[in-house]
Amino acid sequence: MLYIGVDLGTSAVKLLLMESGGAIKNIVSKEYPLSFPHPGWSEQKPEDWWEQVQVGIKELTDGFDRSLVAGISFGGQMHGLVILDKDDNVIRPAILWNDGRTQKQTDYLNNEIGKDKLAEMTANIAFAGFTAPKILWVKENEPENFARICKIMLPKDYIAYKLSGAFCTDVSDASGMLLLDVKNRRWSDVMLKICGITQGQLPKLFESYETVGTIKPELAKEFGFNESVKIVAGAGDNAAAAVGTGTVGDGMCNISLGTSGTVFISSREFKPNDNPAIHLFDHADGSYHLLGCMLSAASCNKWWMDEILKTKEYAAEQAGITDDMLGNNHVFFLPYLMGERSPHNNPDARGAFIGMSMDSTRQDMTLAVLEGVTFGLRDSIEVARKMGIKLTRTKICGGGAKSPLWKKIVANVMNLKVDVIESEEGPALGGAMLAAVACGEYASVEEAASKLVKVVDTVDPDPEIAARYEAKYQNFVKMYPALKDTYADIK
Ligand code: XUL
Repeated sequence: MLYIGVDLGTSAVKLLLMESGGAIKNIVSKEYPLSFPHPGWSEQKPEDWWEQVQVGIKELTDGFDRSLVAGISFGGQMHGLVILDKDDNVIRPAILWNDGRTQKQTDYLNNEIGKDKLAEMTANIAFAGFTAPKILWVKENEPENFARICKIMLPKDYIAYKLSGAFCTDVSDASGMLLLDVKNRRWSDVMLKICGITQGQLPKLFESYETVGTIKPELAKEFGFNESVKIVAGAGDNAAAAVGTGTVGDGMCNISLGTSGTVFISSREFKPNDNPAIHLFDHADGSYHLLGCMLSAASCNKWWMDEILKTKEYAAEQAGITDDMLGNNHVFFLPYLMGERSPHNNPDARGAFIGMSMDSTRQDMTLAVLEGVTFGLRDSIEVARKMGIKLTRTKICGGGAKSPLWKKIVANVMNLKVDVIESEEGPALGGAMLAAVACGEYASVEEAASKLVKVVDTVDPDPEIAARYEAKYQNFVKMYPALKDTYADIK
């Protein structure tokens, strides 16, 4: 049998074809535009996602026996607001996870409704990228669009809907809407009321490994698939990546260096979090997880390489950076190019280089970008450590995980062993694994992870480098507070 995992990302959709037993047979990536219509806004057209998913499915399965495809599932960029009218037309472009327009609505939820009440209802507080403040934004700023809303869904759910006609979502992704009672895995009626919406406008909830329907007959014909192909709920991309890296069960950690940067910690129990700077969401394995999310991670490096240095030679730029330079850099970079979510919750935060002198080099600045993102991720690790969570190792995935230098920086800044998985395609692989579970290949997500995920290498922290980074991190943590007021002034 063959299983397709669709990772609906921000810069591209990645599709992965996995055979029974776990062999990855093919991977295809298709890009689509991302638009920033105003400073801090971030939008995409769901129609573009769907077009590229269709092209991608055909290319992915080209040359394979398509009658063997048994299931399709997803990892999707989280929090995006997709709204459809009564005829299933997309009402406006999707407002994405890294969009910062909802400061007013976020403040209303956190300050007027109150963080305690939000946490009681949803296990989380409001962040500008979450879906509920976006619904309030549309209500206030585009009342004619709000009045037309028939269906509200998340990005990957739009693809599942187009493929199967099932109006559905899964609990891991739904957790990031701030509409879900995360503990009990059901919609919070009070939150829906606060946002002026009804359950009828929201998708039916599933666990990530549950089947939501079968592929539409006309699509089965177009792709050359059997009509029995199962469409499986899937997960938010971080929960899917956790499945793909075997971060399931209790107390396991995964760091993702994608467009966003995340720290994901699995938890069998629902343990409310004293510091809501990191999120408490449902996991794709049926349990829970903590999530710290930076809005710009590998995208900072992409910006520095593509836009500033004007090069595509990422590896060559990093090649001359030697171990003695790690933890000895006088240049610091604050990675807040799209504002910041965890832990600062500040859409107005911005990037900055600090500490340059006449002898600072291009290499120092390239290194500072990788270090700055990693320090930002350590902020979330510190929140978890303060909660009493003891970590000794982490998995790693995402585009940034391709860089041996970056993995070494992560190991030493976090002082954790970094386990490298055979494939760094976390969400797409996780999606394919969820499809395999739904089709009965494995009894549970945990069983699939234990059988399919292979650690191929471990990067150990070096005590000297880790000690140098410890001192640098203590410098880094003072920089955001020093700049916070300036960010508000220059916005
Ligand atoms: C998680 C988050 C990002 C997106 C990226 O809360 O906003 O990781 O899911 O696709």
